[in-house]
Amino acid sequence: MASKPADHRARASQIVAALTVEQKAAITSGASFWETVAIADAGIAALTLTDGPHGIRKQVQGADALGLNDSVVAVCFPPAVALAAAFDPALAGEVGDALGRACLAEKVGVLLGRGINMKRSALGGRNFEYYAEDPFLAGRMAAAYVRGVQQHGVGTSVKHFAANNQETERFRVSADIDPRPLHEIYLRAFEYVVRSAQPWSVMAAYNKLNGTYATEDHWLLTDTLRRRWGFEGIVVSDWGAVDDRVAAVAAGLDLEMPSSNGLGPAAIVAAVDDGVLSEAALDECAGRVVALALAAGANAVDTSYDRDAQHELAVTIARRCIVLLQNQPIDGRPVLPLTPSGRLAVIGEFARTPRYQGGGSSKVNPTQVDAALDAIAARAAHEVVFEPGFTLDGSGEPDLAARAVHAARTAEVVLVFLGVPAGDESEGFDRTDWQLPPAQLRLLEQVLAVNPRTVVVLSHGSVVDLAQIVAAPAVVDGLLLGEGGGTALADILFGFDDPSGRLAETIPLRLADGPAYLDFPGELLHVRYGEGVFVGYRWYDAREIPVQFPFGHGLSYTTTTFTEITATPSDVGVDVGVTVTNTGERAGRVVVQVYAGLERSVVARPPRELKGMAALAVAAGERRRVTVTVPRAELAYWDRRAGGPAAGGAMAGGWVVEGGDYRIDVGHSSRDIDASVTVTVVGDSAAQPLSLDSTLSELLAVPAGRAAILGQMRKSLGLTEIDPALEQLIGSIPLRRVVPMMGIDPAELEALLARG
Ligand code: BGC
Repeated sequence: MASKPADHRARASQIVAALTVEQKAAITSGASFWETVAIADAGIAALTLTDGPHGIRKQVQGADALGLNDSVVAVCFPPAVALAAAFDPALAGEVGDALGRACLAEKVGVLLGRGINMKRSALGGRNFEYYAEDPFLAGRMAAAYVRGVQQHGVGTSVKHFAANNQETERFRVSADIDPRPLHEIYLRAFEYVVRSAQPWSVMAAYNKLNGTYATEDHWLLTDTLRRRWGFEGIVVSDWGAVDDRVAAVAAGLDLEMPSSNGLGPAAIVAAVDDGVLSEAALDECAGRVVALALAAGANAVDTSYDRDAQHELAVTIARRCIVLLQNQPIDGRPVLPLTPSGRLAVIGEFARTPRYQGGGSSKVNPTQVDAALDAIAARAAHEVVFEPGFTLDGSGEPDLAARAVHAARTAEVVLVFLGVPAGDESEGFDRTDWQLPPAQLRLLEQVLAVNPRTVVVLSHGSVVDLAQIVAAPAVVDGLLLGEGGGTALADILFGFDDPSGRLAETIPLRLADGPAYLDFPGELLHVRYGEGVFVGYRWYDAREIPVQFPFGHGLSYTTTTFTEITATPSDVGVDVGVTVTNTGERAGRVVVQVYAGLERSVVARPPRELKGMAALAVAAGERRRVTVTVPRAELAYWDRRAGGPAAGGAMAGGWVVEGGDYRIDVGHSSRDIDASVTVTVVGDSAAQPLSLDSTLSELLAVPAGRAAILGQMRKSLGLTEIDPALEQLIGSIPLRRVVPMMGIDPAELEALLARG
């Protein structure tokens, strides 16, 4: 069994105890762009950290964090935007497993992924690197990926912690977020991954959170990540994210990357000498870095991996990520899957030159790239003609378009490959609009005018405007599928496999309908998350805003129903039983989506939130009973008052499961619910201890409190009941202020309350 950093903590402490302050400071900073410091005398070897996350980007020469220089050849799996659409953590685990093997072979100790930030706006520049607009989905996928990699004794780095939801001013902006959205949306996936998969490292983000740099935020890195969630690994800075190295050590940031060429370590040494930084804090950081290096060293082996087999896996996985958005009938038959008896016209440069990943630090140097055009030609029984139609930079050339339209006119079916040009989607900047290039849209319009039997295949990393695209009867969303995407697309188009991807992000009708539209990317170095917990479908559903395609949407070539829904409370949560029936004539894959909602709640809640899922294969006509457990913790909301005054300060607040009748919706998307049931859940006792700061109504709601105040009222006013109309009037006044008016001695009441 591979060892993990926690196994080496004792030995690491011994090693650190024998080091000088200078040595300890040195090992908490990188030795180079990708390596940590080795101290040979102490038996500490250098550790290599490498991007990720959907393949290995190990640079041999020319170090940079922006994908500018080449890296070793490695299999490029579907980036997170596509993998999430599989709605299947097991698949993320398979990707992790493959990457763990590749890391061992490439002598990589920590793979810098996965990125699990929320897609707050459709314009987010790194949305292609992130999973979803939903923390449940992102957390489940990421935890499986982390386990997949780490089972090989290779670490992961879950990033970017926290609230790095935009690229604009990412080095300076403060994400200003209230406690509920912070915990329920932006930290939730991180919390799940840490608690359930213990990533070897977490990467502290560039931005500030509520005014403090993430790299210097003690509340974030120590109180929350370590104390509350029990994180055992190291916190590494994003590349160049450290502003003040001393403050970062004090906050719990263990490793500064890349090397600051001695500056960071020198500042640490000076601060320890001056007594500004405790040596114990430095020891903690150094100890954790050493434990990580020891674990990686202990797991290192000389091995190799089979790139061809991994390419095949990349194809298989890509097939499961493709989302069939629309498939309308023409002459009584859906356009897909293709069963051509005549010529196929393939149009669009992306068919020949695939767009399969985004730009920046996650850019992988692929082993081979499958073009959809080749794979289609190999599968088609009849003639296939190709016309690029437009150039890759998105510009249109009249000749190209004219030739494409001509080819479309005489074909039986037309496949039009459209997409966002590579240069428009990269780390480092946000998008400014969501339209496909006008030349592509014009081309589609012309093609549809001459041949309505047209399928659009899309390649893009973030949501695009589909208003004109949905004029085509069939639309296949290929997102960014990695190096095997071309083959996978052909398999789906011809029906060799069932499309089973589901949207991990709502596609709105208008950009202006989005939750963060007025608050993105912020102003004057602050971005206020004014939509609160209402992110993605939580927003569109709560506001009943019509959308182009809802979260969770994705068609199949067969039809499936969910019936006989049951919901049974158990010790661990709610067991939701569903009968899944494939009512069609083809085998298919189905994703059971389980949402929960609580209408009468003490907090503002979305109508429904994803809380369970199951992806499964169902044969034609098959009927299966499935149980999806909604963990109790998933029903909780964040209560800033929980824990009571004793918790205080940095540890204030906590999760509370509110008692009540929860509605469980089981369906095919957040807007396509097959059936709902109600289940009564007993709540946590969230009662705040009564004090003089409680209101009169809060006191009256509790029998002991009611007895205490009525007793006092009898004494002072001779009254035995409080009139409901009067309570309405004065019920919201804190006791400290209202009881003196009633002639009651606050001290006496307080004493009574203290006795309970
Ligand atoms: C990115 C990280 C990446 C790091 C190293 C940064 O620019 O934000 O995601 O891991 O560079 O390349």
